[in-house]
Amino acid sequence: MICNMNDDYSDKNAALGALYAEHIEIVSARHDHALELAGATHAIIYSGNPKIAFLDDYQMPFKPNPHFVSWAPLTHLPFSYIVFTRGEAPILIYYQPHDYWHVVPGAADGYWASHFDIRIVHSREDVAEHLPEEREKCIFVGEIDDDAMAFGIERVNPNAAINALHFARGMKTQYELAIMRLASRRGAIGHVAAEAAFRDGMAEFDIHQAYCKAVSHVDPELPYGNIIGLNEHGAVLHYTDLDREPPAVIRSFLIDAGAHVHGYASDITRTYSFGEKRFQDLIDRMDAMQQDIVNQVQVGVDFRDLQIGTHKMLAGLLVDAELANGDPDTLLETGVTSAFFPHGLGHLLGVQVHDVGGFMENETGTIIDPPSGHPYLRLTRVLEEDMVLTIEPGLYLIDMLLENLRGTPAEGHVNWDSVDWLRPFGGIRIEDNVRVLINDRENLTRDAFAQL
Ligand code: GLY
Ligand code: MN
Ligand code: MN
Repeated sequence: MICNMNDDYSDKNAALGALYAEHIEIVSARHDHALELAGATHAIIYSGNPKIAFLDDYQMPFKPNPHFVSWAPLTHLPFSYIVFTRGEAPILIYYQPHDYWHVVPGAADGYWASHFDIRIVHSREDVAEHLPEEREKCIFVGEIDDDAMAFGIERVNPNAAINALHFARGMKTQYELAIMRLASRRGAIGHVAAEAAFRDGMAEFDIHQAYCKAVSHVDPELPYGNIIGLNEHGAVLHYTDLDREPPAVIRSFLIDAGAHVHGYASDITRTYSFGEKRFQDLIDRMDAMQQDIVNQVQVGVDFRDLQIGTHKMLAGLLVDAELANGDPDTLLETGVTSAFFPHGLGHLLGVQVHDVGGFMENETGTIIDPPSGHPYLRLTRVLEEDMVLTIEPGLYLIDMLLENLRGTPAEGHVNWDSVDWLRPFGGIRIEDNVRVLINDRENLTRDAFAQL
């Protein structure tokens, strides 16, 4: 990623360069192992190509193959390939077209460059001469929408190799952790700017612009579409409409927004009250509960247990806040907590916002299902050292879900007057990015806010 807001984010960053040597050794070893499992000699990792809009000649924003980005911070290099041969330095086939319509990739330099045997090509036909001749000994890793791009390689994304790579990507290298700290910092800078815009009474659209300016991203550079919801909009889990005018009365603000550094994401949510004390008290309780959950993150924890434990804690919170009544087990069994909190507690984070491998028990691809009644949980693994995941409990006023409780044993456990009170505020979500340690954890998000 090219970024001029701060040298920290540049691929000339010497500290990242020092960590990169170990990273590429680890990535190479993972591919060595994946090739062994697949019974192949070479992995050809394709960066991808921009999609073209239907019946048009307009390119959609380019989304690179995450496998390619996990090798090097080359997020703007379509039609390029990494050739990894067991025991050898990787070759980078660097596509630099003669094109006067677009800005083409510049010189191949940066802290990553000396680790590759770089071959510049100016046309797609020139790629083939840099690929291993024995195509039957190759596996292709990436998305192809045109068989010509696989250059006759028939084994495309074989499960044995892909599962092993996905499983391994759950654990971050020191280089990846350093980048993700930068992505957290970048996101935190945006959140501070967005909160100031909210306090100034701005519309969702203008808060979004303030965020993008602070993180120096245009929309396609964001890891996901910003969720910027005022008042009731905070209850729409993936709200991305961005009203152009502020509401007549401003009550609350839910922002779920991240940032990218070298292809790695942060994913951060905060909720604010515009002055209403009861809503601020509820935010404070949710914040304390979220930190209690974060403090349970450590090696060996089964994330499914954390999901269920969160529902039990939320049940107590709902009773304290007079939104519900009854004991925690009853509120779980009758579906009250799920109506207020209908999504998963968290997910793996990395190159992808919902990083791969969250359901994998092992590298062969055995799947661990979410617990019954929790279909949207995206992380079911036992936590391992240096995983990075989100912890993002929520509490929302979603009438569609609460109305389903009418006429069931849950109805009498909901305090409907308090529900009416909460509706105009939408909801609350607090989301941090957390690294798993032995008997400990690192909160990338809170550290980033504290260091601003
Ligand atoms: N921002 C999407 C998520 O929190 O999962
Ligand atoms: Mn989020
Ligand atoms: Mn998230």
